[in-house]
Amino acid sequence: RKKVTTRTLARLKQENEPIAMITAYDYPSAKIAEQAGADIILVGDSVGMVVLGYDSTIPVTLDDMLHHTKAVVRGTKNTMVVADLPFMTAHLSSDEVLRAAGRLMQEAGAYGVKMEGGSEILSNVKTLAAAGIPVMGHLGLTPQSVNQIGGYVIQGKDQKTARHLIDEAKRLEEAGIFSLVLECVPEELAGLISEKCSIPVIGIGAGRFCDGQVLVFHDVLSIGNDWHPSFVKVYQEAGKAMLQGIETYIKEVKQRVFPEQRHASHLSSELVEQLYG
Ligand code: KIV
Ligand code: NA
Repeated sequence: RKKVTTRTLARLKQENEPIAMITAYDYPSAKIAEQAGADIILVGDSVGMVVLGYDSTIPVTLDDMLHHTKAVVRGTKNTMVVADLPFMTAHLSSDEVLRAAGRLMQEAGAYGVKMEGGSEILSNVKTLAAAGIPVMGHLGLTPQSVNQIGGYVIQGKDQKTARHLIDEAKRLEEAGIFSLVLECVPEELAGLISEKCSIPVIGIGAGRFCDGQVLVFHDVLSIGNDWHPSFVKVYQEAGKAMLQGIETYIKEVKQRVFPEQRHASHLSSELVEQLYG
C-alpha cells in the first residue's frame, strides 16, 4: 500500500470513501492497526486512560506522548501517524506549541499533530500550519476540558451551540487544519459540518454522516475495561481471550503442566551422567 498523506485523505473525501482511523499506543497495536488497513493511526492522549490508568487525559505529558508515538512509528510503514498535543499545550505561546509539535514530528516521527479547541487556538494553528506541520483539529467533546465541561457529555444539542460548532469548524479550516475530529455531537450536526467543510471530518460518537470514523483501540477490542461509551462497537472480546490465556498459563505452572520437555534445552546423556555421578 502507498503511504497515506494529506492528499490521500483529500482524495478519499472527494471519492466519498470513508476514512478509517483508530488509536494505537505501542509497537504491537500499531502493527495490528496497519496490517488491518487503517488509513490513520492516532496516538491519542487517551493513552492516559486506556494504557496508563489515569482517570482523564489531563495528566498525560509531552514526554508520555513522545514515548508512545516513537513506539507506534516503529510499528508502521505507510500509515499516517498523528499524535495528540497534551493538555494545555495548544494554549501555550506560539514558540512553545511549535517546539512541542516539532518534537513529536522530528524526534518521534509523527506525520502531524492533533489539537483540541476552536477560536482560542486559531493563531497557534496558523503558526503550526505556516511551519509545515499538518494539524488535525478536534471539536465537540474535547476531553482535555472535561473538568470545565463537568463530564463526558454530548455537545452541540441546541441551536446556539450547534451554530457555534459549525462556525468553529469553518474557522479551523480557514486557519489551515488538514482534517477535523468531531467527538460526541448529534449526527445531523456532524453531517452538516462534514458537508460544509472541504477537509475530511472524522467522527467519534458523531454518527453516520462524517467523512470517516475513529475509535479507541482498546474499546474496539474490549481490553482493560468492561464499560464502554454507548457509541462504541466492540468487534472482538480480546480482553476476555487475554485473560483466559493468562489464566491457563498460571494454572499450568501451578500443576506443572508447563513447561514440557520440548520447551527446555538439554545436556547430552554422557554429561548428565558425569555431573550426577
Ligand atoms: O485521544 C484520543 O483517543 C482521541 C480520539 C478519541 C479522537 O482524541
Ligand atoms: Na485525544
